[in-house]
Amino acid sequence: MAIERTFSIIKPDATARNLTGKINAMLEAAGLRIVAQKRLHMTRAQAEGFYAVHKARPFFGELCTYMTSGPVVVQVLQGENAIARNREVMGATDPAKAAEGTIRKTYGEGIERNCVHGSDAPETAAEEIGYFFSGIELVG
Ligand code: RTP
Ligand code: MG
Repeated sequence: MAIERTFSIIKPDATARNLTGKINAMLEAAGLRIVAQKRLHMTRAQAEGFYAVHKARPFFGELCTYMTSGPVVVQVLQGENAIARNREVMGATDPAKAAEGTIRKTYGEGIERNCVHGSDAPETAAEEIGYFFSGIELVG
């Protein structure tokens, strides 16, 4: 299986509850290596740009308000099949529907306040990594 990189965000609901370390431990236990990481507070323009794909969705405005409501931790994760592996350990978007042992099932507060973001395909992973990181910040 190929070694991949994927992009991850620990969202404001999780940083507010001081869960960064606990979530990182779950990512690492799932075989993912954190090869880049930084904490930042997104501006409205940065959040709208990141979620541009969801512009037409009814929850877009609310999502951008939530994602700028506090600090986030943006990360690059590396490992075998990292994109799918990360989606697996994250769990379903709605924590109520997520499998036992996943991050969203364990810590998610609701369909919006669901702790983490993870890229859904190789193309979006590359695009999202490039949105927040330059090449020399990725240390595998
Ligand atoms: P993500 O992009 O954050 O990894 O999550 P996802 O693929 O599981 O979910 P997606 O459909 O891409 O939605 C992006 C984020 O928008 C919020 N959301 N709110 N109010 C709602 O019905 C609703 N639906 C989605 C969530 O924070 C979701 O992760
Ligand atoms: Mg998504």
